[in-house]
Amino acid sequence: NERPRPLVAGNWKMNGLRASSEVLSEIMAGYGAGLRNRADLLVCPPATLVAALAGAAKGAVGVGGQDCHAKASGAHTGDISAEMLADAGASHVIVGHSERRADHGETDAVVRAKAEAARRAGLVAIVCVGETQAQREAGETLTVVASQLRGSIPAGAMAADLVVAYEPVWAIGTGLTPTAADVAEVHALIRTELGTLVGEAEAGRVRVLYGGSVKPSNAAELMAVANVDGALVGGASLVAADFLGIARVY
Ligand code: G3P
Repeated sequence: NERPRPLVAGNWKMNGLRASSEVLSEIMAGYGAGLRNRADLLVCPPATLVAALAGAAKGAVGVGGQDCHAKASGAHTGDISAEMLADAGASHVIVGHSERRADHGETDAVVRAKAEAARRAGLVAIVCVGETQAQREAGETLTVVASQLRGSIPAGAMAADLVVAYEPVWAIGTGLTPTAADVAEVHALIRTELGTLVGEAEAGRVRVLYGGSVKPSNAAELMAVANVDGALVGGASLVAADFLGIARVY
């Protein structure tokens, strides 16, 4: 089985003003032909910057949203639809990030509806799953991740419209990371579950990213783990040199 082409994605979260387009320029300047042959790059800025960055990136680097509403339009003050992100030039949208699940009470059913909306709009959904520290300590990691996947992945999803990101909640922004063996165990489970959910052939092509305190110093070890097809990077994606340092492990 051929490994999917790696994807290194940056989630800027609620960071970035117009001046931050500089970060994208630096990323593009450092994304030379060699690296372009080996890995795809994606930045997910706040929604206010999607159109500007997509315009500047000209498709060389992908630009994605961080969330979308399940509906295409309507009376939903403050929300943004997948269609709007696509219209602004986005190619991807993150759905079900643990910060959305925790801060906005998003359930698996809500996340699945958002992932379906992404597909409807022609976007790739990056569906996030991951256990809390309490769940890991209780030995529930694999059951939690399996049930999040079953609840959050749309029926009929294809590798062309789906990326899965495993982000252990306790590893996000903490500097803590699971061991390579722990990452391998969860990513193997994700691949197996995907086989049941979308079929073996598609499952082998879905990119499964690891996220949570990825830095240039630990990226090589984490990205070498079986069934890890790239990274979803938070803090380190705000600094072009760090983001490129992670991508250059490929
Ligand atoms: O979505 C990426 C994120 O949650 C990981 O954040 O800052 O630990 O890389 P960070």
